[in-house]
Amino acid sequence: MKSKRHIQIKTNVIAWTAVMLLPLMMFMACVEEKQLDDIVQQGDQEQPEQETEEPVVALPGLPDDVAGYERWLKLNAEPIPPVAGGDPHNGDKNVYVNQTRDDIAPDGEQVFPYPDGSIVVKEATRPNKDYIGLIAIMRKKAGSDPDHNDWEFIEYTRNDPDKEFAVIASGRICWGCHARVEDIDYVFTELE
Ligand code: HEC
Repeated sequence: MKSKRHIQIKTNVIAWTAVMLLPLMMFMACVEEKQLDDIVQQGDQEQPEQETEEPVVALPGLPDDVAGYERWLKLNAEPIPPVAGGDPHNGDKNVYVNQTRDDIAPDGEQVFPYPDGSIVVKEATRPNKDYIGLIAIMRKKAGSDPDHNDWEFIEYTRNDPDKEFAVIASGRICWGCHARVEDIDYVFTELE
């Protein structure tokens, strides 16, 4: 009799415990599911970031404001070949500007001068080389040099694709020659 009662109590305890624990277990299950949802959602959110284009980084040694210049408007249609008999920027060259075709040639014909804030980048692949060895930059900054249409000139070179670019020349030596095309705002290469 005593032991029967004992069993009865034990069963009750188990039953009650189960009843008490059930909501708790359901709650835990919900939490876990919620966490799982969060993880899945986080995964979903991260997905598009991974799919976006690679971040635009400047070539080593070059200033950040020319990062991604290869995606800017290219002035020349075909690479400009080395100039026979001495080329101031020796190599096969491309010239880019951080403007749109509509900005600098609104009616199809290029207009001058270039707007303030323009950056013109010339890259050159040296003869018999397969990497960019020269970057020449012209930046138009209002008030920086009114005598030369406010262009700032600077040029960088490297002789090894694993090395950083280093400044080779700037200023007077550059505009001294570019002044030949003063009438088209010091930029030799016209939009094609
Ligand atoms: C002896 C003349 C000469 C000198 C000096 C010279 N350039 Fe040039 N530059 C040119 C010519 C010509 C071009 C046209 C494209 C080509 O054939 O390379 C040019 C093109 C450029 C371009 C592309 C835009 C354009 O004008 O077509 C940039 C940018 C540039 N030079 C920057 C410089 C910088 C910076 C310096 C000084 C470190 C410099 N240049 C010195 C003659 C010169």
